[in-house]
Amino acid sequence: MDEYLLEVRGLKTHFLGNKGEIAAVDGVDFAVKKGETLCIVGESGCGKSVTSMSILKLLPPEGKIVEGNIFFKGNDLVKMSESNMTAIRGNEISMIFQEPMTSLNPVYTVGKQIGEAIRLHQHLDKKQTREKVIEMLKLVGIPAPEKRVDEYPHELSGGMRQRVMIAMALSCNPELLIADEPTTALDVTIQAQILELLKEIKNRLNTSIIMITHDLGVVAEVADYVLVMYAGEVVEYCDVKTLYKKPLHPYTQGLLNSLPKIEETKEMLNIIEGTVPSLYDMPSGCKFWPRCPYAQDVCKKERPKLYEKDNHKVKCFLYRDFEKGEINYGA
Ligand SMILES: Nc1ncnc2c1ncn2[C@@H]1O[C@H](COP(=O)(O)OP(=O)(O)O)[C@@H](O)[C@H]1O
Ligand SMILES: [Mg+2]
Repeated sequence: MDEYLLEVRGLKTHFLGNKGEIAAVDGVDFAVKKGETLCIVGESGCGKSVTSMSILKLLPPEGKIVEGNIFFKGNDLVKMSESNMTAIRGNEISMIFQEPMTSLNPVYTVGKQIGEAIRLHQHLDKKQTREKVIEMLKLVGIPAPEKRVDEYPHELSGGMRQRVMIAMALSCNPELLIADEPTTALDVTIQAQILELLKEIKNRLNTSIIMITHDLGVVAEVADYVLVMYAGEVVEYCDVKTLYKKPLHPYTQGLLNSLPKIEETKEMLNIIEGTVPSLYDMPSGCKFWPRCPYAQDVCKKERPKLYEKDNHKVKCFLYRDFEKGEINYGA
């Protein structure tokens, strides 16, 4: 148990809406060790953000964890009181979001906001706090931090604002950093710089990171392990090298095929046909079968299990022989 910093087991998070109850996260398992980066990848709406909000227990009132455990350093966050969660949030577990402008308060300077985060958790006086803020800005690669510390969010570029968010998230020395699409709103060059920064942080501070993204290009850059989600479920889970070398699930194969290759023009890209099914109207059997090029009768009737071989997990009937110890890489 204590081998993992975070261990999520059988997590189910539901929303109660006017059309009934939906399973946004429908039985998700994964684990993260100290210093490891796990990427959660999948198309929009597949439950990535709800998974991370469940970990922090920051769900809206209509959302509820209905099953499962979230062990953080051995303690189950699902059962933890709100006051204990408050002590963990922004302290032992920090989060950064996609749009830094909406997460920063426009009326306070950068220094005041990061300072607030620091002061909340460390006992420093005004001067020490300012010094610490400047040190944090330096850590995240903001040039002229002595000047930037007195600026307002609107005076910074999108990339710089995201660096400020990262500085804020790191100011309390979290053991786990959850980054939900932290580079999606940024242009490609800035995106690469932020990913580089996150890698550096992981190496220097040994922070565990859960990186949420819909972009397999990002995954290749930063991940140690990858969890592929589809319609609230884990469809594939393995280390990053294996995922790119031998993707098993037809959905993962589709995602990888849709990555632009240098020799191809945009028109020639393979995209997975169809869309993620509505959570109110899930297909019977495997949730992916309506879009799957290999769907068989069994896929339409039964739900596949997460089959496992050599630490490579895949939820697809093509690999049901894994359980018998036979290798059938299917398609
Ligand atoms: N407050 C909510 N009420 C009802 N459904 C929600 C709510 N928040 C998210 N959902 C649904 O949960 C599913 C997963 O959403 P989300 O985790 O945000 O997806 P993503 O993978 O894009 O981050 C989606 O179908 C979404 O519509
Ligand atoms: Mg999301």
